Amino acid sequence: MSVPSDISNLFKLFGDSADGYQELASGPVQSSQSGWSTPSRIEPAAIVPESAEPESEPVVVQQAEAGCCAVAAPAVPVRGQKDEQVWTSQGLQGLLAGLAQQDSPASPEVLAPQLSSQRPDLQHIRVIAVVSGKGGVGKSTMAANLAVTFAKAGSAVLVLELDPQNALRQHFRAAEPSAWAAAAGLAVSAAQIAEQCLHSSDGVTLLPYGVIDEPRRREFEQSLANDPHWLAQQLADLHLSKGTVVLLDTPPGPSVYLQQALSVANLALVVSLADAASYTALPFIDSLIATYSQEAADFVGSSYLINQVDPSRKLNQDITQIMQGLLGSRLAGMVHADPAIGEALAYNRNVFEYAPNSSACQDIVCCAQTLVERLAANSHGEQTA
Ligand SMILES: Nc1ncnc2c1ncn2[C@@H]1O[C@H](COP(=O)(O)OP(=O)(O)O)[C@@H](O)[C@H]1O
Ligand SMILES: [Mg+2]
Repeated sequence: MSVPSDISNLFKLFGDSADGYQELASGPVQSSQSGWSTPSRIEPAAIVPESAEPESEPVVVQQAEAGCCAVAAPAVPVRGQKDEQVWTSQGLQGLLAGLAQQDSPASPEVLAPQLSSQRPDLQHIRVIAVVSGKGGVGKSTMAANLAVTFAKAGSAVLVLELDPQNALRQHFRAAEPSAWAAAAGLAVSAAQIAEQCLHSSDGVTLLPYGVIDEPRRREFEQSLANDPHWLAQQLADLHLSKGTVVLLDTPPGPSVYLQQALSVANLALVVSLADAASYTALPFIDSLIATYSQEAADFVGSSYLINQVDPSRKLNQDITQIMQGLLGSRLAGMVHADPAIGEALAYNRNVFEYAPNSSACQDIVCCAQTLVERLAANSHGEQTA
């Protein structure tokens, strides 16, 4: 079977070969693929490196060659910005009006408050916290499908749901349905979360949040607030194998769950839509990340994923382009709006199982590859943004 080069590259990053890679049988794929194809589809393109000269002329939008993780070249000047206003709706209006390419605004300043004490050593694992300032942007979808991607690449993967919404398991099919039905979830049995682990048909280990009533939820959240190292201790106690990738699904905005997740994360993956509300929420989540990650000495920084990109919508395309320019190499990738994702969820499947040839799958593999590269760069002692 011929293996797409994206998959091969991802396997290589994990130090493995793609020979054993198996795509699951194609399901109802065709309708999904054709569903989002548009004449003006954004062709992925080289992400602009942050190291480029701030003075350089803005790059004119080009129809770049299609390729993994590629996005259209930005038409706005983006680096070296020091203007916090850029992440406001007014700033966005200015940028939209001048996709027109003038003054360079900047990444927002972030808060740097204090957290104290130590947490257990987690150097043997790689932890990605999937976060956002706004809800409904695709965090759970991306956490689940990135987990599947890493598992397909041969990595041990745990995806842990720190969100009372308790929706993560809907993205998976149980390896053993009876065990699946019986599992309570980490909030239900917080002292013994190892016993709550589920195993999906894709080889992903899943720790769902569980269903609890309001008094119990408040009690659980209070206990997390009282013990900032609860998650770190739980992860240490799980004795995960070296190199295990842990994905943490979180609720939007500030919460004890975000605090716990960022205290153990190596990387924060900020999921955002290309709309004004998500755009203006980025400084908010950036400041929360700066606040809660400061105790994690092995924190690499943030990467960003623009989700539900729809090139047929002008505003979506414009904001995507602006964000590409502003984020530079911090952009891990973009995932197109793809009906296959919603359809997969409706059948309790991940999109790799439901529509393995969909564009969403290709986008997610590209994003996974970029994330692995960033984590690998860090573990080799390289300086990252
Ligand atoms: N790339 C995408 N294309 C189409 N629909 C998507 C995509 N990503 C997410 N969705 C849909 O968006 C909705 C919200 O996703 P979800 O992962 O639950 O968001 P969050 O966890 O941030 O609240 C879901 O219905 C999901 O199927
Ligand atoms: Mg969610």
